Amino acid sequence: MLELQGVSRLFGGLAALNTVNMTVNAGKVVGLIGPNGAGKTTLINCVSGLDHPTSGVIHFDGVEIQNKAPHQITALGLGRTYQNIRLFGDLTVLENVIIAQHQHGKANLLDSLFQSPRHRREFKQQVERAFELLKRFHLDSFSDSRAGGLPYGDQRRLEMARAVATAPRLILLDEPTAGMNPVETHEFGEQILKLRDDGLTLLVIEHDMALISQVCDEVYVLNFGEMIANGTVDAIKQNQDVIEAYLGRED
Ligand SMILES: Nc1ncnc2c1ncn2[C@@H]1O[C@H](COP(=O)(O)OP(=O)(O)OP(=O)(O)O)[C@@H](O)[C@H]1O
Ligand SMILES: [Mg+2]
Repeated sequence: MLELQGVSRLFGGLAALNTVNMTVNAGKVVGLIGPNGAGKTTLINCVSGLDHPTSGVIHFDGVEIQNKAPHQITALGLGRTYQNIRLFGDLTVLENVIIAQHQHGKANLLDSLFQSPRHRREFKQQVERAFELLKRFHLDSFSDSRAGGLPYGDQRRLEMARAVATAPRLILLDEPTAGMNPVETHEFGEQILKLRDDGLTLLVIEHDMALISQVCDEVYVLNFGEMIANGTVDAIKQNQDVIEAYLGRED
């Protein structure tokens, strides 16, 4: 479903990504781990069109996307969340999800605010769908609250609801449980598995190995821009290169 071939991203002399290869198969939850500064966010920025590789090719469902703009990639069926939460803080929780639905590109938000019966009907359906998403992520009781005033964990769940609202087939999550307690994190993991059971594919960046173990079918490990390992969670945990990347080499 997603394939990176020889992807590099240079920032001046620094290779944030160095000839990275990665495959994400449909219907899987794939983890992407690595120490701080390893290049994880750079990788998903290159996949989602926010950034572009210096060289290399990225295919999403057979389409070359490395030179496309974010809205084009969203329209192809790729959603994401951000490590630094990006919400419309002054809009309500419900409005944030409704706007995300429009990022899918089909209807225009202003169009649906016109008063024709058809547009009103469509808008009503969008509100209903948005409410279903809020319920799914336990946010329905805050639908009228200002998004920026929510606690951190709720803002992360709202980001997830917004990503799902774009009707994606693949979702990229950048540290989705940062700031959540262990109970919230585990519950979030169950939501990830439910989305997978619904047929979605997910790529999850996380430092929380409990979440990685809970949800991932397979894990990739980045270190200083290089993909140093790939395999099951159990194999990765015992991989000597991975242990050294995290703990440093014992000479
Ligand atoms: N726009 C930029 N300009 C220059 N250097 C950058 C830029 N973006 C990222 N980098 C550098 O690229 C490297 C990889 O950064 P990246 O944010 O992808 O790491 P990460 O694995 O997501 O780390 P973390 O776990 O801390 O989020 C770092 O050394 C970072 O300083
Ligand atoms: Mg990052």
